[in-house]
Amino acid sequence: MTVQYKFPEGFWWGSATSATQIEGAANEAGKGKNIWDHWYEAEPNRFFNNVGPETTSNFYYQYKEDIQLMKEIGHNSFRLSISWSRLIPNGRGEVNPEAVTFYNNVIDELLANGIEPFVTLYHFDMPLEMQNIGGWENREVVDAYQAYALQAFQLFGDRVKKWFTFNEPIVPVEGGYLYDFHYPNIVDFKKAAQVAYHTVLAHAKAVQAFRGWNKDGDTKIGIVLNLTPSYPRSQNPFDLKAANICDLFFNRSFLDPAVLGEYPEELVEILREHGQLPNVEQGDLELMKENTVDILGVNYYQPRRVKAKEHLPNPYSPFMPEWFFDSYEMPGRKMNPYRGWEIYEKGIYDIMVNLKENYGNVESFISENGMGVQDEERFLQDGQIQDDYRIEFIEGHLQWLHKSIEEGCNVKGYHLWTFMDNWSWSNAYKNRYGFISVDIKTQQRTPKKSAYWFKNVATNNGF
Ligand code: BG6
Repeated sequence: MTVQYKFPEGFWWGSATSATQIEGAANEAGKGKNIWDHWYEAEPNRFFNNVGPETTSNFYYQYKEDIQLMKEIGHNSFRLSISWSRLIPNGRGEVNPEAVTFYNNVIDELLANGIEPFVTLYHFDMPLEMQNIGGWENREVVDAYQAYALQAFQLFGDRVKKWFTFNEPIVPVEGGYLYDFHYPNIVDFKKAAQVAYHTVLAHAKAVQAFRGWNKDGDTKIGIVLNLTPSYPRSQNPFDLKAANICDLFFNRSFLDPAVLGEYPEELVEILREHGQLPNVEQGDLELMKENTVDILGVNYYQPRRVKAKEHLPNPYSPFMPEWFFDSYEMPGRKMNPYRGWEIYEKGIYDIMVNLKENYGNVESFISENGMGVQDEERFLQDGQIQDDYRIEFIEGHLQWLHKSIEEGCNVKGYHLWTFMDNWSWSNAYKNRYGFISVDIKTQQRTPKKSAYWFKNVATNNGF
């Protein structure tokens, strides 16, 4: 077979998941409650079809079978997260021995099957006890997180070589403190800025703990960011300015401190001018400067399209990023008809070129990219989901990723979101993304067509 798009030797092929979304056993085996367990109990109607995270895809009990499936479909790597409230039920203090056994077993099983674990420490799942003292608004939680991170390095770091402090840390800021789609459902920019700042600080403190602990040069640490390129409607300076501000708020607010060790001055100026700067304590900025990442995970689903504001915001309305730009639906854009997000494959290339040109060509991975589909059973034929649309989606993105590598971008892997159909935050099972379909009632797993297509890609290191 001719391989037209050949990837570099040692490229990582696999898929990504997160603890709350796949493990299940949410109220078992010594796990403490996190904000998702709590929010679901309090407001089940905020979740699609009133379905919460108690069972999900049952990975806690079926991980061996799942790892066999990963092997079967050619994975050489797998991204998972540790549940903080499973490992340390109250967020700080006692470690749960059953969680230590579980994560040890999963890591050992992966390695025994030739699959490299990529481990995220925090994927949206704040322990409830920590939220009850203010969550990321409270600096005590930053210190508790640092202690949790160090605990995880000490317990599992002899085998885990790729660590990520946070998954998409801006999402809990947006969801929980700006746009009301995550607990604690606060809408307050000043708090959002403080929460974002404390998350960056927690990340830097975890990196600091890692540097103090890690004696092995092969073991690396990074962060996973959803980098969403902001494309202006036109080259008109007002549209360009709108896109730049959007980029500052939604990408560079985390990317710059994580990779370069400092906030963009332009962003600081905007916040200062509008009285929205967070509280910063002495020594914080130096700590961030000294603790930048080795590696970066990039989640890419869709771009943002923005234009200059048509109407000036009411100066008496509460401050929001949207004071500076409007969203814009580009005519003729390609849409995912089954999820409602734009598909723009070249975005993945633009992100990588930006990292090469402006971020020291930091070693990176695609840590999530994927296509959500509602009612995917409609594509079931002879017992298998015929997801040609997903194959086309992945192929289109891989072509652009390949081009970026040819041009010298430092990309080392591609992980699809996600391994198997799973529970998603308030969307529950609405959108399916997996290589493997899961019958939630019987927990029966069946690989989709894309799983075997991807196996070929992984086996040939290209397509
Ligand atoms: C990603 C998150 O941004 O989006 C995942 O990291 C999430 O955790 C995925 O499941 C898909 O989201 P949704 O809302 O389409 O199910």
